[in-house]
Amino acid sequence: MANIALEYKNVYKKFEGSDRYAVSDVSLQIEENDFVTILGTSGSGKTTLLKMVNRIYELTSGTIELFGENIMDLDVNEYRRHIGYVIQQGGLFPHKTVEDNIATVPKLLKWDEKMIKERTKELMELVQLDYETYRKRYPNSLSGGEQQRVGIARALAVKPRLMLMDEPFGAIDAITRSKLQQELLRLYENVQNTILFVTHDVFEAILLGKKIIVMDDGKVQQYDTPYNILLHPANEFVSRLVRSGDQFDKLRALSLEYLTEPANEEEIHDGIRIDGLKHLNEALLLMLQNDASHVIVIGDDGNVKGKIEMSALKQLLQ
Ligand SMILES: Nc1ncnc2c1ncn2[C@@H]1O[C@H](COP(=O)(O)OP(=O)(O)OP(=O)(O)O)[C@@H](O)[C@H]1O
Ligand SMILES: [Mg+2]
Repeated sequence: MANIALEYKNVYKKFEGSDRYAVSDVSLQIEENDFVTILGTSGSGKTTLLKMVNRIYELTSGTIELFGENIMDLDVNEYRRHIGYVIQQGGLFPHKTVEDNIATVPKLLKWDEKMIKERTKELMELVQLDYETYRKRYPNSLSGGEQQRVGIARALAVKPRLMLMDEPFGAIDAITRSKLQQELLRLYENVQNTILFVTHDVFEAILLGKKIIVMDDGKVQQYDTPYNILLHPANEFVSRLVRSGDQFDKLRALSLEYLTEPANEEEIHDGIRIDGLKHLNEALLLMLQNDASHVIVIGDDGNVKGKIEMSALKQLLQ
């Protein structure tokens, strides 16, 4: 059993003066090193869910635990230093250079100069910003995408116990956004961290999340794998939401393993082969090009992992 990094227990949030709950009866667990996306329409309570974790907002009732500890029992300033937080416009300090922005928490923790420099350099490499080119620049001289990279580096500076990301790529053009998504996935593979990532983009939620929390009207509608969210939506809302995006985008976001099933000898023999690292859109193309009803998935080790049936793909696209 994996450790539970974060747990919401019967969490409610009502803002002063409001007569409705922004977050209502949320109970869920996020496992350590999981990448969980929160998907929902505007006003569904996504940001509120995150802001209660780093205690920008207080809970009306219920509890939130970080690695088994009630966050209200922890010293708020100390605690926040171990929570990475990345928001839409970068949230960088405008009067600080890139280097100083990234070093904010290490400086607060009084790391020595040399260690800070090394860490900053390492982080800038990690987010693909050339150290010498960017270190002395100020946020207002950076593009949106570059600012987000700095924001991510800053959040990672002291290996956080949890990363909270609130629509970090929301204001970025589609091409740069796609690049940043790929970089974030690579980063996630490398640094292994627990990530809670808010988005209202269905494709982004599926592409990045190992699990997705679908929110509507302050309530969790479904908390499940991308596959189950797409194929077995828990209710009408989830179903409508996941069908609102471009169908082909969804295939592009899903890895082959979602639809891989056992194949018999004959199917293996007859089937066109596809590299197991590809995505479902490529399986579809291959089948259409070859007028085939299935493809055979080949793993890293060269062995057959199974087959993907056209009928399964069609079901997904319904
Ligand atoms: N500081 C606040 N004071 C009063 N009401 C608030 C406050 N912050 C959020 N709300 C309300 O709580 C509800 C949920 O807001 P929240 O910001 O969590 O939504 P969201 O899902 O992040 O939306 P978006 O996609 O637009 O960012 C909304 O109805 C909003 O108006
Ligand atoms: Mg929000």
